[in-house]
Amino acid sequence: ANLRRGNSPPVEEGVPFVGGLLKFSKGPWHLMKSMHSKYGEVFTVPLAHKRMTFLLGPHASPHFFNATDERMSQTEVYSFNVPTFGEGVVFDVDQRVRSEQFRFVADALRSSKLKTYVPAFRQEAEDFFAAWGDTGVVNLAEVFGELIILTASRTLMGREVRESMFKRVADLFHDLDDGMRPLSVLFPYLPTAYHRKRDAARAALSDIFKSIIAARRASGVSEDDVLQALIDSRYKKVYDGRATTDQEIVGLLIALLFAGQHTSSITSTWTGLYMMAGDQKYYKAAEEEQRRVIAEHGTDITFDVLNELDTLHNCIQEALRLQPPLVLLMRYAKEPFEVTTSDGRSYVVPKGDIVATSPSFSHRLKHVFKDADSFQPERFRAPREEDKAAPFSYIGFGGGRHGCMGSQFAYLQIKTIWSVLLRNFTFELVDEFPEPDWDSMVIGPKPTRVRYTRRRL
Ligand code: HEM
Repeated sequence: ANLRRGNSPPVEEGVPFVGGLLKFSKGPWHLMKSMHSKYGEVFTVPLAHKRMTFLLGPHASPHFFNATDERMSQTEVYSFNVPTFGEGVVFDVDQRVRSEQFRFVADALRSSKLKTYVPAFRQEAEDFFAAWGDTGVVNLAEVFGELIILTASRTLMGREVRESMFKRVADLFHDLDDGMRPLSVLFPYLPTAYHRKRDAARAALSDIFKSIIAARRASGVSEDDVLQALIDSRYKKVYDGRATTDQEIVGLLIALLFAGQHTSSITSTWTGLYMMAGDQKYYKAAEEEQRRVIAEHGTDITFDVLNELDTLHNCIQEALRLQPPLVLLMRYAKEPFEVTTSDGRSYVVPKGDIVATSPSFSHRLKHVFKDADSFQPERFRAPREEDKAAPFSYIGFGGGRHGCMGSQFAYLQIKTIWSVLLRNFTFELVDEFPEPDWDSMVIGPKPTRVRYTRRRL
């Protein structure tokens, strides 16, 4: 009853639409910036027949991250993924089934398992860069896009794909990925050419994986990869404790590929660009760190060595602060709730609102991060530790109930790739330092050329 009497957040009228889509001229960034300066951390934007309420920053967002799925639901806002991930998994099943499926994923990405993936990351990265010449010009985003689908095929999809059908699977993944466009969020089943290609690619991928799963089951051979972990998973609380079906295994695998592919390749790219910008202070510091671990442990790149690379780790963390690839996280309010702002105002967000929070915006709040627009990896270290001042200050991997399950996997992979590069190449920017390209689903830098030169540390 109390909640019904509260003030609802200020509403901005007259936000332009294009074909039913919010016109985010320079991405949601400019909209959020002007709304934030007008209204502060909490405000509502009408979206066709719906409302989107923004909760920006650590004061306003805890309910977003902490509330149960019964209160803050993902299904309504993320169900556009169903034709891509497939039926019977993730956003196509009810909360109880989904939470068990997420447990399968969490188990597959546990540290003890991750250890076994490091040699694969390393070998893929070394083989990939061995093919580079003494010097050349490349677009890092493209390079990492290619490399990360190779590492993902080894560690997630498994040996069979990597060894004998990599090209075919990568092409199908490309079509599947290309079928997810801003318009697909509103109209995932619209019969466009992109969606038709997406559906065909999904069906073909499904056939490929089903035959791999059948072959593994028949041979009884067990592999060290995420595919195997998903094959071996069993429900506990639903479906009478049965094992995962082929259909579910394929769906979960595709969901994981989507969660990890662009996010990781984009973060690898920004990390490099920031390290090599300006006087290359951080590239040199990261090089020095590689020299130190080589002197101590030799040239092998292992799980333990990667865990010693604090400088590189902080550079990745800082790149992800300034340029998080997922700029808007969303939920659906299934009941009204109260929020307070850093200046003590309080509002009641009504039931039925789409609720959004933004890593890219929260990460630039000046009362949370000092010199918020500049690249300072040391802000994560004592005595600053700015990310720890309040929960949900640093949300590049989300947080709370639905925080990223692949963050450790991502760090290990990106640290492996950059360790190989730091040991074998120097870099310089050919183009100017890029702006983000807001014109896609997962936000990365505009194409940027860099020159590499081979050398050995
Ligand atoms: C969730 C970011 C890599 C698996 C999330 C969320 C974010 C995120 C922001 C929360 C979404 C939300 O609250 O709505 C990132 C970034 C990555 C990365 C920036 C790379 C730098 C990965 C990788 C995997 C992965 C490599 C798997 C191999 C997941 C899963 C979830 C998730 C399964 C869903 C968790 C849930 O809803 O309970 N990620 N991610 N991510 N991520 Fe990642």
